[in-house]
Amino acid sequence: MSYIHKPLLRPKSSEMGYKSPLQSGNSMCTWRYLGRFVTLGVYAAVALFLWYTLVPTRSKEPISANLDASAAPVITKNVVIYAATKFFGHPITTERFLATCPDVQNYCRITQDESEFDNADAVLFHNADYHGQNEKFKSMKNQRKPGVPFVLWSLESPSNDNFRPETHMINWTMTYRTDADIWAPYGTMIKRHKALDVNLHALWNSKSKSATWLASNCFTQNKRPYKFYLSIENSNCKDYVTEKFWKALNDRVTIPIVLARKYYKDLGVPDSAYIAIDDYATFDEFVAHVKRVEKDKDLYLSYHEWRKDWKVIIGSGFSGWCTLCDKLQDKEYILKHPKSYKDVAWWHSFEMCNNQIANKFL
Ligand SMILES: *[C@@H]1O[C@H](CO)[C@@H](O)[C@H](O)[C@H]1NC(C)=O
Repeated sequence: MSYIHKPLLRPKSSEMGYKSPLQSGNSMCTWRYLGRFVTLGVYAAVALFLWYTLVPTRSKEPISANLDASAAPVITKNVVIYAATKFFGHPITTERFLATCPDVQNYCRITQDESEFDNADAVLFHNADYHGQNEKFKSMKNQRKPGVPFVLWSLESPSNDNFRPETHMINWTMTYRTDADIWAPYGTMIKRHKALDVNLHALWNSKSKSATWLASNCFTQNKRPYKFYLSIENSNCKDYVTEKFWKALNDRVTIPIVLARKYYKDLGVPDSAYIAIDDYATFDEFVAHVKRVEKDKDLYLSYHEWRKDWKVIIGSGFSGWCTLCDKLQDKEYILKHPKSYKDVAWWHSFEMCNNQIANKFL
């Protein structure tokens, strides 16, 4: 077995003619040492020269290769949301509440099991069900961990839903408001990358047999091809635009009639996609306009031109859950940006609604 050792044995430093500078005790040795020092200097200069000339060009390769690494698999952290309340008395389950985002279900689940409070990544309360459990909620507040947000969820406008939780209980809100921590809209619109070829003539033909808007009760939800759809919300509040509007645009392929333009404009809906009653000085002027649109093919179709450039995305009331799972991935960010609502009821309601608009017209 000795043949293995021989080639592997390193020669001793003395056999290589090497002497440590510390070993040299006379002037002869000092000169030899200096000579080596100069040689070393020359080598160093050459090495530096090569490094400066060659390295910048060579290093481009690995840098661009690193940029390419964005295709590397994204590592997802498993997250658990503890639902501390029910949803209008019904259980909150992963299957139902994350139904629209099956991919998210791979790393995110909802539990209603109180024993999981300690390992949950977020604790969620549905506002309408936040009552009668004050002691339980109080003890949760006392046991909370800094990186685990308490989230308040509501689908309703402040006219129909007063927020209940007390001071600094809630870290994040999950509502239809664009400035909520988790935005959970009923629908939204995005600009298409490429214009869609829409057959507006066919659209007009499909509508021409319908009863005129004022002659019959055309606001019922049956399948007749109406030209207009009355999409008036139960209250007029900032960002509160529900599926009544989005489905009129998208599923019913009609012109929604809304009460006040402001709320739709704020959400970035193109002006020409709907008729707003408050654009007119009086209700009669509004009616006269609708009658004109109803009869004039070009004018009617001008309200559908947007379809070429925009796409409607219908959200479900549960869309916030998918976004919440995603946001919980970034634990570091959450820890670095703590927040809580001193008065979450005030946030939800203060100066958010104008329910006087209807009095003027209707
Ligand atoms: C939640 O609010 C509490 C009370 O203000 C705070 O101590 C905690 O850091 C907050 N957590 C998050 C995740 O923002």
